[in-house]
Amino acid sequence: MCGIVGYIGFRSVSDVLLEGLHRLEYRGYDSAGIAVMQEDHIAVRKRAGRVNELSQAVKLHPVESKVGIGHTRWATHGETTDENSHPHLGGNGEVAIVHNGVIENYDSLRNQLMEMGYVFKSQTDTEVVAHLIAHHLAEQTRLDSEEPCVATCLRAIELTLDRLKGTFGICALFQSCPETIIAARSGSPLVIGVGKDEFFLASDASPLIGYTSDVVYLADNEIAVLEPNSMKIAHRTTGSVQPSIQTLDQVSADIELGDFPHYMLKEIFEQPQSIANALRGRFDDGEGTAVIGGLNLTAQQLRTIDRVVLTACGTSWHAGLVGEYLLEEFARLPTEVEYASELRYRNPPITDRTLVFSITQSGETADTLAAMRECKRKGHPTLAICNVVGSTIAREADGGIYLHAGPEIGVASTKAFTSQVTVLTLLALYLGRMRHLSYPAGKRIIKQLKMMPEKIEEALKCHEQVQEIADKYSQFNNFLYLGRLYNFPVALEGALKLKEISYIHAEGYPAAEMKHGPIALVDEQTPSFFIVPRGGIQPKVISNMEEVKARKGPVIAVATEGDREVERIADDVITVPDVEDYLQPLVCSIPLQLFSYHVALLRGCNVDRPRNLAKSVTVE
Ligand code: G6P
Repeated sequence: MCGIVGYIGFRSVSDVLLEGLHRLEYRGYDSAGIAVMQEDHIAVRKRAGRVNELSQAVKLHPVESKVGIGHTRWATHGETTDENSHPHLGGNGEVAIVHNGVIENYDSLRNQLMEMGYVFKSQTDTEVVAHLIAHHLAEQTRLDSEEPCVATCLRAIELTLDRLKGTFGICALFQSCPETIIAARSGSPLVIGVGKDEFFLASDASPLIGYTSDVVYLADNEIAVLEPNSMKIAHRTTGSVQPSIQTLDQVSADIELGDFPHYMLKEIFEQPQSIANALRGRFDDGEGTAVIGGLNLTAQQLRTIDRVVLTACGTSWHAGLVGEYLLEEFARLPTEVEYASELRYRNPPITDRTLVFSITQSGETADTLAAMRECKRKGHPTLAICNVVGSTIAREADGGIYLHAGPEIGVASTKAFTSQVTVLTLLALYLGRMRHLSYPAGKRIIKQLKMMPEKIEEALKCHEQVQEIADKYSQFNNFLYLGRLYNFPVALEGALKLKEISYIHAEGYPAAEMKHGPIALVDEQTPSFFIVPRGGIQPKVISNMEEVKARKGPVIAVATEGDREVERIADDVITVPDVEDYLQPLVCSIPLQLFSYHVALLRGCNVDRPRNLAKSVTVE
C-alpha cells in the first residue's frame, strides 16, 4: 500500500525513480510523484493518476540530478488529487518526504503546526510529517546557529518520529544536504539496495532487480543515512547497527510480462511451475512424509501441539480455509481460521500447545503482521507461510515455510493461492505423519501431490472454453459461487476474484447453505457457478444444482471430465482433470481465475490494477 523509491549515486535519477515506481505500482496507483535534488532547491513533479501520467509530466518538464525520491500512492487521507500526491514539502521547501503508512495523530499535530503558521496544501497525514521535520530542523539550526548539516537533519527526523503515532516508511531529502537521503521505518517496509557508489531505497526489492542483488532490510525503528559512498544505520533506541547485507535471487525476467498481455494471465499460466517450486525438495519418500525444514520446532514440540490457528486476509484467508480441512483430515488437529484483522483485537484462548500460522503472499499485510505480533507478545511460537523472502512477516516469524512462487505482481492473487494450498497440504501431511496418518496413506498423498504440476497443466487447457463462457455471461451483474467441503473455499475465492477485477457482485456460499438465504436471489439474471467435481458428496451438490435450475437460474459447472450427469443439468460445463478430493481446490481454481480474468477484460476493466485495491495492504 503505497510504494516508495529513492536513489543516490551516479545515474540519471528520474529514470531510476520512474522505473522503480512502475515496478511498485501494484502497491497503489492513485497518484505518483518524484522529488529531485537541484542545485539550490528540491524540484517536485507529481500527478494524480498512474505512473505513466507522471512520466509524461516529467517528459514535458524534465528534472535531472543524481539524488531523488518517489512515491506511488494508495489514498488514505484525502482524495486522489495532484496536491495530495507525494512527495510533500515541509516549511518553505527545505525538506521533501514520501511516506507509506498512516499517521494516527495527524489531526492534532496539524492543528499545532497551523497555529505556528505552517500552511497546508494537502489533506494528507503526510504533509504534517514534512512540516514537523521542517519545524524541528529550524529549531535545531537556531540552537546550533549554523547551516543545517547531516547531523542536524538526522536530529530533526528523530525528534519528528518521536511525536508520531501510527505506521511509517519515510524517505526524506533536505535542501541543505543535497548529497543525502534519510530513511526511517516503523511498521512499513523499506529495503536498501547496495551498489558501488550508489544506493537504492524501495518498499520492496522489485525496483532493485537488475541494478544490484545486495540488499539490506531496514528493521522497525531503524534510521538509515545514505550518501553516495556511505550507508549508516542506527536503531532509534539502541544506536548504531552493523547492516547485514543479503543477496536477492530474483532476476529481471521474473518481473517482466514476456508474451502475456497481463500479469494476471502470466501468473495463472505459471501455476504448473509455481506448484512444482512449492513441492521441490519437500518429499521424504522413504518415510511417506513431507520435509518441512524451517519451523524451528523439534519433532517432540510439534507432537505436543493440540490446536492450530491460521490467520490471514483476503485470498490467503481462503487458502487458510482449505488448510483447516486438510489439517483436520490428515492430522486430526482442531484448526481455526481467523481473519487477522479480527484476531489482532480479540483475545482467543491460545495455549502453548497452539501453533499459530500467518499466511501471506506479501509478508507485509498490516493486519496479518499485527495479529502475528499479538500472538508473539503472548509468548506463542509464530510461524509464517509466506512468498516474499525477506518481508517483515518472514523476518519476524519464529519459523515458517516459503512458497517460492516468484514475484506475484497482478493485484488479484492467483499463483500465490495455489502455492499456499500446496504448502498447507505438505504441512498437513507432515503433522499427520507425526500422529495418526499411516505410511501407505502418506505415500499415496505424496504420489498425488507429485502429479499436480501436470494436472494443473491439463486444467489450463480449459482456457478457450472459459473464454467462450465468459463471453456469454460477461453482462450479468450478480453471480453465486457454490461448492462444498474442499470446494467451499474455492467458491469463496472464485467470487472474490470476480468482485476484485470485474466489479461484479458475487457471493460464495457452501452449496447446501444456499437454501437458507441466497436461493432468494436466484432468477434468470443470476448465474450460479457450481464447483462440482466427482467424489465426496457430489450427489448432494448435484441436488443443489437441480434446485437452482428449477428456479430458472443459469448454471455454470466446474466438473470432472466426462461427467454426463453434470452436463445434463448445467447450462455450461468447464472440465478439470480428476484428482482426489483434497487436491480439487488446486485444479478447480484455475477455470475460476480465468473466468474472472476474461469477464474483466470484456467489461473493459484494468485487470492488473483494479480500482480501489492494492496488492500489499500495509495500513489497517
Ligand atoms: C490484498 C490483496 C489480496 C490479498 C490480501 C492479503 O487485499 O489485494 O490479493 O489476498 O491483500 O495479502 P497477503 O499478501 O497478506 O497474502
